[in-house]
Amino acid sequence: MAHDMNETIAALTAPGKGLLAADESTGTIEKRFKALDIPCTEDTRRRYREMLFTTHGLGEFISGVILFEETLRQKADDGRPLPQVLIEQGIVPGIKVDKGTVALAHFPGDKLTQGLDGLAARLAEYQPLGARFAKWRAVFTITDETPSAQAIELNADALALYAAYCQQQSIVPIVEPEVLMDGDHTIERCAYVTQEVLAAVFHALHRQRVVLEHMLLKPSMVIAGKDCAHQAAPSEVADYTLRCFRRTVPAAVPSINFLSGGQRDEAASANLNAMHGAGLALPWNVSFSYSRALQSLPMATWKGNAANRSAAQLALYRRARLNSLAQQGRYASALEAQAA
Ligand code: 13P
Repeated sequence: MAHDMNETIAALTAPGKGLLAADESTGTIEKRFKALDIPCTEDTRRRYREMLFTTHGLGEFISGVILFEETLRQKADDGRPLPQVLIEQGIVPGIKVDKGTVALAHFPGDKLTQGLDGLAARLAEYQPLGARFAKWRAVFTITDETPSAQAIELNADALALYAAYCQQQSIVPIVEPEVLMDGDHTIERCAYVTQEVLAAVFHALHRQRVVLEHMLLKPSMVIAGKDCAHQAAPSEVADYTLRCFRRTVPAAVPSINFLSGGQRDEAASANLNAMHGAGLALPWNVSFSYSRALQSLPMATWKGNAANRSAAQLALYRRARLNSLAQQGRYASALEAQAA
């Protein structure tokens, strides 16, 4: 049955809530597990995600979870499909539908996201399994030469076509253009590149007749490269980010849910919080859609061992709560010590 996209968006943008991105591809989660000596098998991935999704009270702070295709078809130990576990927590399941990136021919350092072939047929399969929204990630690396104008255009067109296919099947698209924090670039350079990318993405969405009211944007924050000597304070990140987004993201877009991108947990919370304290009227809901900044401590606490399950769930619950406070401008770094 097709769901109403307005209802899906209302659920996803509930006040004080954000998204948990648990859609790491098999290769990505393998890297994260390996760093913690957790064996990566279909069953350990299933058990890990079941641990996350059965966290008591997770639905107080998390409105939606983005799943990898494998997870959409997996079951909890008690036999319930994992999407059903989320639904019973009051959480909307979604699905990552891109197929990752390839190097863009003739543009060294640039990438193109794949996955448009057969997308409409895959979306039709995912919907009966519970997916009410989808995600497609385009990725841009900042160097002196990249991202090229060609990489920006091609990725913007792919995002727009993906979003249109989703809307045609009443699945809410999350449009994710990520400008990576790898490198030593300044926050000014990140602001410039992010503005170029967002302007191209919204132009492409317009050309493809994507209904802005029926999509969510999942961008990176405007921050300095992780190897840049000057790391901006949260108030500076909020200023640069909001200036850039007010220039490029139409008010018709219901929600901007930032990714964490490799920021430390505390920085991801503090930066989101600062956007709510910048004294600016925000035309969109502003929240989070974090993977690493929600999962790093829970994963390291779990370590693949059932005995650590409750402690890992508590770590997730606390981190989700801190980000919920940040979404309301009520986070303070002093709360970190209390939470620990
Ligand atoms: P991070 O929050 O770890 O950046 O992940 C978000 C995400 O979904 C990347 O595609």
